[in-house]
Amino acid sequence: MTRIGIIGSGHIGGNLARLFTAAGHDVLVSFSTDPAKLAELAAGTGATAGTPAQAAAHGEVVVLSVPWGVLDEAIEQASSAGRAGPDRVVMFYAADDDTAARLAEELITGAGFDPVRTGTLARTEAGHQEPKGDLYGEEFHHDDAVAAVSRLRGTPPNGTGRP
Ligand SMILES: NC(=O)c1ccc[n+]([C@@H]2O[C@H](COP(=O)([O-])OP(=O)(O)OC[C@H]3O[C@@H](n4cnc5c(N)ncnc54)[C@H](OP(=O)(O)O)[C@@H]3O)[C@@H](O)[C@H]2O)c1
Repeated sequence: MTRIGIIGSGHIGGNLARLFTAAGHDVLVSFSTDPAKLAELAAGTGATAGTPAQAAAHGEVVVLSVPWGVLDEAIEQASSAGRAGPDRVVMFYAADDDTAARLAEELITGAGFDPVRTGTLARTEAGHQEPKGDLYGEEFHHDDAVAAVSRLRGTPPNGTGRP
């Protein structure tokens, strides 16, 4: 089973949604001027309806099937938001300097992630983000990330996380 995001759910995208769901894939359909049409397509196929940003985040494969005239609009919607709300994924960062930290937060937010500061660049604060650290290689969401950071802060990385 492959996760497939479809951006543009008309003749091409809608038919692909039918074919891919029938073949057992996990499909998210998006991009319409009429959200009811997306909901109907989703209900009829077993796909999920969502936004272009959700389709881009969902898909191991992303299908772009929109008219050329709205290509830029579709791509902008797909790339601007990342996952929203509680689904938004955390990007950890560390900084000694608060001005640098604010810039890092802006960049991370603009890239569609939720910034969570692990602390300073001290190894007992930043080191948990490195390979085999407890914050490395796992998908965290905001509340769990903040809890993990406050549990780990001030402790040396124990090297038992994912390589
Ligand atoms: N159909 C073919 O036989 C065929 C063959 C080869 C290549 N193509 C190419 O494949 C691409 C898709 O063709 P298609 O026939 O699937 O087109 P389509 O049936 O018109 O579907 C376009 C999709 O984009 C959505 N959309 C268009 N403008 C939008 C806007 N401003 N905001 C939000 N959603 C918008 C439409 O939603 P709503 O309609 O719900 O608003 C629809 O889901 C095109 O580039 C076409 O040239 C098509």
